[in-house]
Parts: sequence; C-alpha cells; structure tokens
Amino acid sequence: MKIIMVMAMTLDGKIAKTSNHFPDWTSREDKKYFARVSKEARVVIMGDKTFATFPSPLKERLNVVFTLEENPKEIEGVKWVKGEPEDVLKDLEDMGYESAILGGGAFINGMFLDHKLVDEIHITVEPKIFGDGLGLFKGDFDVNLKLIDCEKINDDSVVLKYNVVY
Ligand SMILES: NC(=O)c1ccc[n+]([C@@H]2O[C@H](COP(=O)([O-])OP(=O)(O)OC[C@H]3O[C@@H](n4cnc5c(N)ncnc54)[C@H](OP(=O)(O)O)[C@@H]3O)[C@@H](O)[C@H]2O)c1
Repeated sequence: MKIIMVMAMTLDGKIAKTSNHFPDWTSREDKKYFARVSKEARVVIMGDKTFATFPSPLKERLNVVFTLEENPKEIEGVKWVKGEPEDVLKDLEDMGYESAILGGGAFINGMFLDHKLVDEIHITVEPKIFGDGLGLFKGDFDVNLKLIDCEKINDDSVVLKYNVVY
C-alpha cells in the first residue's frame, strides 16, 4: 500500500508550535492541496493529538486515528487504531484501500518512517517562521530523498514532493 505523507511546514521546518496548536496558519492553497490528495486516497492516517485539533472528522475520507486509549468514543467516519502500523495498513488493504495519506503529527510520522512505511513526502513550505516547535518527525533519522516535483501554489508557498529512498 502506498503511503504519502502530506504536511505543511514553516520555512524553519516546523509543523506546529505545540502538540495542540490549531493548524490555522496554512494557506488556502495548501488546504486545497491536502483536500484534493486526501480525497483521492479516501483515507487519512493520523495521531490522536492531530485529530484533536480538528473541529470534526475530515469529511468524505476515513479518519484512521492512532490512540492508546482503551475505549475511545465511537465517532462516525473514524477508525481508532493501535499497535503495529503494518497491521493497520494490512487492515486498510483488506478494506480495499490502495493508498493512504499520512497526515501527522510528528509522533505518528516518526513511527511510520521508523518502520520504513513512508513512500512519498509532500511538503508545503509556508512563508512563516516559528522558531521553537514540532518538527516533521519525532525521532533520530538519517534518511535520503529524491525530488519528484516542485510546484508553486501561490505567491509565497511551494509544494515539494519527494520519494523516500530506503
Ligand atoms: N503542519 C501540518 O501539516 C500538521 C499536520 C498534522 C498535525 N500537525 C500538528 O501536529 C501536532 C500534533 O503532533 P504530535 O506529534 O504531538 O502528536 P500526533 O502524532 O498527532 O499524535 C500522538 C498520539 O498518538 C497516539 N499514540 C502514540 N503511540 C501510539 C501507539 N503505539 N499506538 C497507538 N497510538 C499511539 C497517542 O494518542 P493518545 O494520547 O490518544 O493515546 C499520542 O498522543 C498538532 O499541533 C497538529 O496541529 C501539523
């Protein structure tokens, strides 16, 4: 199953100031880009901290949310998961999905990269600087990438697309 990580990042490499930072700082064009690619895949995988920043589940997509909670509240459109990411992806494949968007945050991105499950990375670089904050991945990595494409989506923002080389 193809996993495409899609994130918005400040010029200084941050995805948020804190774990509960509401993602209201990204451009309209980035939101449109995320909506388009995630609706194509029909499924977005994320951590519970990211999910908690949304006012409601992402519509028209299955929200696959990693949590350690024993009995998370049932919510329409949400599949709560835990355990090995490979097992979660196997379940999604059995459900008929061929690709999925990995939508953050830093912890879940790090877990998927550590398991060598990220195939492509699409980053919108937004014209902002946060200084302190969360990076794209939690963990210690030394991973190589190959540039696929670079697209200017408005006057100030670009989407960089990379293949991950393992
Ligand atoms: N700029 C962007 O494009 C972008 C995109 C996405 C997110 N973000 C930002 O990223 C921040 C959140 O990132 P984060 O790194 O703090 O958290 P996160 O990766 O979104 O979620 C971490 C959560 O995953 C769950 N978890 C951890 N280990 C697990 C395991 N082994 N099995 C199952 N579930 C497990 C836990 O949920 P429980 O606590 O429920 O157990 C943990 O709190 C937010 O500020 C958000 O706005 C930015």
